[in-house]
Amino acid sequence: MFYEITPAKKFKGRWQAAGDKSLTHRAFIFNALAKGTAQILNANGGDDCGRTREILTAMGVGIEPLEKNAWEITGRDGRFEQPEGALDAGNSGTTIRLLAGLLAGQSFTTTIAGDESLNRRPMARIADPLTALGAEVTTAEGGTPPLTVKGGDLQGGTWESPVASAQVKSAFLLAALQAEGDSSFLEPYLSRDHSELMLTRMGIELEREEHAQPDAEDDCDDAGVDAAEGVEEREDETASARRGWIRLTGPQTLQAMDCRIAGDISSAAFLLAGGLLVEGGNILVKNVGVNPTRAGFLNVVERMKGKLALYNPREEAGEPVADILVQATRLEATRIEGREVPGLIDEIPILAVLAACAKGESRFHELGELRHKESDRLARTAEMITAFGGRVEVRGDGMIINGGGRRRGVEFDCGGDHRLAMAATIMALVSRGSSVIKNVDCVGTSFPEFAGLTRRFSGKAMKVVNK
Ligand code: S3P
Repeated sequence: MFYEITPAKKFKGRWQAAGDKSLTHRAFIFNALAKGTAQILNANGGDDCGRTREILTAMGVGIEPLEKNAWEITGRDGRFEQPEGALDAGNSGTTIRLLAGLLAGQSFTTTIAGDESLNRRPMARIADPLTALGAEVTTAEGGTPPLTVKGGDLQGGTWESPVASAQVKSAFLLAALQAEGDSSFLEPYLSRDHSELMLTRMGIELEREEHAQPDAEDDCDDAGVDAAEGVEEREDETASARRGWIRLTGPQTLQAMDCRIAGDISSAAFLLAGGLLVEGGNILVKNVGVNPTRAGFLNVVERMKGKLALYNPREEAGEPVADILVQATRLEATRIEGREVPGLIDEIPILAVLAACAKGESRFHELGELRHKESDRLARTAEMITAFGGRVEVRGDGMIINGGGRRRGVEFDCGGDHRLAMAATIMALVSRGSSVIKNVDCVGTSFPEFAGLTRRFSGKAMKVVNK
């Protein structure tokens, strides 16, 4: 499948955000482990969350569809059935890593692997902490999948993670909940805290302790949005400037929890970027999750002087949500610090597109983790921007982008990385001439609605070709 794209003359519309991928994985997995039955509404309908659901079903969890993107889950109260054969996590890092944490507490042996891209991704980061709690975890040579987990008889322990990763943290927490005694986890910067929030709501007692990190020099110009009636005034506080301990005593039982999943900011970011970049753009996305450990994208857009406003701040299953309005703006360059990166890690490709269209030189720091995503996303993002005629330089694990050059339509193969495909699509909409974005089936892993919405908002400036 590929997209044919011509320059957009408009980008206007409103949309009820599709369910968040991270929250959906957690709602499925935590409720599968819990006692009782729960209804999950507005679940993410992408393939990644589908993999998690299929694997849980193979482990004896009752999961019944209610309506589109709504499921009823009957939890196993801590004990799963041994699945037949190896498990397939597809393209999904969250599936393989979180489920490894779950499997670490089960007294059987399971093997789990994924597609070509997932089978290249690092797993020692979870194998090591799970081993420290007493599981036997083996990987292929080089620390990649397949992952074989022999679980059971876990003892609490302490782990200081060298990476700020919510997947590692959540895998550890899932194992620690099934272990005997006290466990503690430390991460260098605070990564998204969806697991901590959801587990707490499901009756888990855990303690959190966060410390401010010494800040780098004050290099960013923080411009707020003009306050209008009903608009939430946001502080540009970067939650991920903190490092934190989590402590809990196991074993503990989760209680099933009905939840309506907040909208996915990582998907919404592509449409918001279209609204900011296309002349006359105006996009309203309703019900977007704006958890401060996750919504760094919004802080950066504000710093770039993007016209952005948040309305109706409220909570959805313990997560902050709001409606987000953007309007076309001549953006200014910015600087993204390492401490901010966990809070916007999945938004780097689309932020790079914004930087390539902004006035001035933008600097992105400490993007090393991006090399371990569905592709080497640092290298591939730079390639994509360059292909369109943008000026970008990768320096070590950082990236410098000079905005404002002439962008031209191109043929670009996103190589099966969904976020790169969507970022390239937005770039194509604001480049001169027509473009073809190839290998875009992968978009379905996180955001199946993307093509339809982009086509609608852009007045059919893109076409999906099924070949
Ligand atoms: C996720 C965490 C992030 C993110 C991924 C989803 C999660 O990965 O990139 O898309 O749901 O926990 P890391 O925590 O490994 O950085």
